[in-house]
Amino acid sequence: LIHLLSTEGLSREILTHILDTASNFVSVSDREVKKVPLLRGKSVFNLFFENSTRTRTTFDIAAKRLSADVFTLDITRSSTAKGETLLDTVANLSAMAADIFVVRHSESGAPYLIAQHVAPHVHVVNAGDGRHAHPTQGLLDMYTIRHYKKDFTNLSVAIVGDVLHSRVARSDIHALTTLGCPDVRIVGPRTLAPESFTAMGARVFDNLQEGIKDADVIIMLRLQNERMSGALLPSSQEYFQNFGLTQEKLRWAKPDAIVMHPGPINRGVEIDSDVADGQQSVILPQVTFGIAVRMAAMSIVAGNEA
Ligand code: CP
Repeated sequence: LIHLLSTEGLSREILTHILDTASNFVSVSDREVKKVPLLRGKSVFNLFFENSTRTRTTFDIAAKRLSADVFTLDITRSSTAKGETLLDTVANLSAMAADIFVVRHSESGAPYLIAQHVAPHVHVVNAGDGRHAHPTQGLLDMYTIRHYKKDFTNLSVAIVGDVLHSRVARSDIHALTTLGCPDVRIVGPRTLAPESFTAMGARVFDNLQEGIKDADVIIMLRLQNERMSGALLPSSQEYFQNFGLTQEKLRWAKPDAIVMHPGPINRGVEIDSDVADGQQSVILPQVTFGIAVRMAAMSIVAGNEA
């Protein structure tokens, strides 16, 4: 694996290898991550052309825990604002001896473009491109599901909300089907959870009760207003009434179902605070696991095993 651009096309063996490598980085308590020298002397450049809290910070922590030198370009103050192209920016950072570029961009395909133009020894990790892919989020979601449910081959997983605009949903669906999950459901209004997702191996529901019935895992998604034109955008109140997850509605799933969300959450829109902060929520453990998973991703692409 030279670059990590998508979960699509990754074999079950590779996905499992990344998850196993991540588990080697997690301490027994699942809270502390050991510092290791695997990327000592390497330079990791974080290039976030789109906002981020979780992904950017956990990549930063992960690179430091791998003993890399980490540089986070402040895009708003960079020469991008003067019209420098993406490829020129990357060429100049490559001239500073970059080894890994972690790239988030609002345009689907931007990390691919960079990967096509970097020298063979340089690695690109996609930190989310448009609505296309968010592979490390997909991987940390798989890590979380495996942690709580052990095995993918008997699970029902419901992905609820604005699936159409969600790179997380796409990365999750590819990973879940490859890892043998027999029942992947997408749930939302038809406009945001279209029938076309059946081509990816998911079942499509436009009714929350049917969609999360007896589910083992519920992954809630944010309405991605920034990727929607007005016609698609439901009112927050109407959306919460039909697709917002409350404690009462959570009873439709299995009693031991876990509730996930990639963040950022919009309380009272797709998820009630009682659920987000409740016993079945694993939203914050997802964030913690993201550190180990990103350590695994970077150490594997850079050719170092845990
Ligand atoms: N889950 C996720 O990608 O969050 P950020 O946008 O804060 O990185």
